[in-house]
Amino acid sequence: MSELDESELTRQPIGIFDSGVGGLSVLREIRALLPHESLIYCADSGYAPYGDKSQAQIRKRSLELGEFLIEQGAKAIVIACNTATAAAATAMRERWPDVPIIAMEPAVKPAAAATKAGVVGVLATVGTLASAQFAALLDNFGQGTRVVTRPGIGLVEAVEQGDVDSENLRGRLRRHLTPLLEEGADVIVLGCTHYVFLRESIQLLVGDDVRLIDTGRAVARQLAHKLEERQLLQVAGPRDTRYWTSGNAKVFQQTLARLLREVASPSVLPISRVFA
Ligand code: DGL
Repeated sequence: MSELDESELTRQPIGIFDSGVGGLSVLREIRALLPHESLIYCADSGYAPYGDKSQAQIRKRSLELGEFLIEQGAKAIVIACNTATAAAATAMRERWPDVPIIAMEPAVKPAAAATKAGVVGVLATVGTLASAQFAALLDNFGQGTRVVTRPGIGLVEAVEQGDVDSENLRGRLRRHLTPLLEEGADVIVLGCTHYVFLRESIQLLVGDDVRLIDTGRAVARQLAHKLEERQLLQVAGPRDTRYWTSGNAKVFQQTLARLLREVASPSVLPISRVFA
């Protein structure tokens, strides 16, 4: 990448990855804000969910995905996954100090600022909720606010299959959300990129008085800022998006059509098949 001159580097794609299709909710925000950027999206669906894997496993996998994206010429990397951020953002920044690496974490700070009841609910994966980064987030921004957490068991698997509103899914959502509402939460953080696709179903269940917050748009803005800072913004010309998956290509295609109303065939990710 260093051999490219500045204008060639600017034309290089942005690499985005997630444990699966959840990061498409971030990709959507990036496209809206940066319409001329080409994108490479890696869905590690063969290994989803990350939420119940160890931090070491997720770190190893994230570094492999980062390696692949760099090989594809990515000028920046977006970790479109809260769980992978907690496990791997530091290691990735150490490995590639010259590449802008944009990461994400549950929106506890804006939620604490928005709650009127003084109670915030956080729906996230087991891995995110158990991480040191999440504990630090609560220490820094959760003071003076009661933060009630709930692991969204089973939700990632449903979204991976393109299920965002079945009866079964709604029952599961109700079981996750009821305890948050009973505690009085008037703001709920969608702390996993997959859950953003459940926003409508969640809003229907919790009612209009409860505000839902996610960080997709903030991540896109942060990416734009980092690219601008390094004069890497692509401000004109056509763009394209290439998709890669470690899961079933047909399922990805169907889920992409369901979630983004887009027709595209993914390639199969040529990285190790063993999650060890
Ligand atoms: N979409 C991811 C997140 O934001 C990970 C979900 C998972 O695979 O458990 O946390």
